[in-house]
Amino acid sequence: MIPPIYSPAADRYDNGMKYRRCGRSGILLPEISLGLWHNFGDVNPLANSLAMAHHAFDHGITHFDLANNYGPSYGSAEETFGQIMKKSFAPYRDELFISSKAGYDMWPGPYGNWGSRKYLMSSLDQSLRRMNLEYVDLFYTHRYDPETPLEETLQALVDIVRQGKALYIGISRYPKEAAQFAYRYLEERDVHCLLYQGKYNLLNREPEEEGILRQAQENGTGFIAFSPLAQGLLTNRYLNGIPADSRMAQGGSLKENVLTPALLGKLKALDKLAGQRGQTLAEMALAWVLKDEMVTSVIIGASSVEQLEDNLKAIGNTQFSEEELKAIEEILD
Ligand SMILES: NC(=O)c1ccc[n+]([C@@H]2O[C@H](COP(=O)([O-])OP(=O)(O)OC[C@H]3O[C@@H](n4cnc5c(N)ncnc54)[C@H](OP(=O)(O)O)[C@@H]3O)[C@@H](O)[C@H]2O)c1
Repeated sequence: MIPPIYSPAADRYDNGMKYRRCGRSGILLPEISLGLWHNFGDVNPLANSLAMAHHAFDHGITHFDLANNYGPSYGSAEETFGQIMKKSFAPYRDELFISSKAGYDMWPGPYGNWGSRKYLMSSLDQSLRRMNLEYVDLFYTHRYDPETPLEETLQALVDIVRQGKALYIGISRYPKEAAQFAYRYLEERDVHCLLYQGKYNLLNREPEEEGILRQAQENGTGFIAFSPLAQGLLTNRYLNGIPADSRMAQGGSLKENVLTPALLGKLKALDKLAGQRGQTLAEMALAWVLKDEMVTSVIIGASSVEQLEDNLKAIGNTQFSEEELKAIEEILD
C-alpha cells in the first residue's frame, strides 16, 4: 500500500504558536520546540514518531532538536528523522530549523567523543547522512571538554559554518567562564553564537542562579531550556505511581530513587496550584520557564501526541501573579 502523502495543516502558523527572537539574530524560534532524545529511536514505533512530528509541525513547531547519539541505538533518532524528512518534511525544509550536536560518547576509539576537531567534523558528516540533510540549521558542541583546547573546538564550529554544513552554531551545558570565552572567540571570527542550551525547570534553577541566562542575554545569544518538565517529573505522570510505559520505568536517564516521598508531596502541591490556574502540571511547568523573556524556547520531549497536545496549551497562559510565584517557592522550599 502506498502511504498517504503528508500535507501539513494550512493554519499551522495561525493556531496559537508564538515565536521569540533568538538573542541578537534574525532567527525566530517557536516557544515550544520538540526534542528527539527519547521516543524516536529504532526501539520505538515509527508510526508514533511520525505522528508526533506531524502534530508538532501542524501546530507551528518549526524547531526539532537532535544529537548524534539520540536513540537508542546511537544515531537512530537521526535516522528516524531522516525517514520523516523523506516521507513528509522534505518539501518544507525551508520552514524547519533543525539542530544536532556532538560531544558525548558516539563511536569506539579516541575520536568518537568529547570536543576535538576530528570528532566534531566527522560526527556532523555522519549526522547529515543519517538525517538526509545537506546542512543543519544549528550545530552545537554538546558539552565543554576540559581536555581539548577550547580554541580547537570553537574553530571547528567556525569552519563548519564556513563550509556551509551548519548555518548557525551553539553551545550546550558550558560552564560560565568557558561560555564567555566562546562568545568572544566566535564573535571575533564573525560567527555569532546563536544559542546556549541548558537544563532549566522548576526543580533546577542553575542557569538563573549561576548567571548563565543573563550572560547569554548580554552576549546577544538566545537561551533554550532542555528538560523543562524534568524528564516527566513535572507532569501528572508520577503522581499516582510509576506507569509501566514511563521513562522512569525504563530505568535509564530518570532513576526511581529521585522520586522521594518529599518530592512527590511537592509535585502534588504544584499540581493543585496548576489546577487553580486552569492548567495541568505540565502546562504550568512550561509556562513557568517561558514567563522569563530571557528564555527563547523550551525543548520538550513527548511519548505521545496527547502529551504534545497538552504541552502546546502552555502557551495560552505564561503569566504568573506575585502570589502564584510565592506559592510555588513555598512549595519547593
Ligand atoms: N543538551 C543536552 O545535554 C540535553 C540533555 C537532555 C535533553 N536535551 C534536549 O531536550 C529535549 C527534551 O528533554 P526531555 O525529554 O528530558 O524533556 P522533558 O520535556 O522534561 O521530558 C519529556 C518527558 O516527559 C513526559 N511528558 C511530556 N509531556 C507530558 C505531559 N503533557 N503529560 C505527562 N507526561 C509528559 C514524557 O515522559 P514519558 O516518556 O515517560 O511518557 C516525556 O518523554 C531532548 O529531546 C533533547 O532534545 C538536551
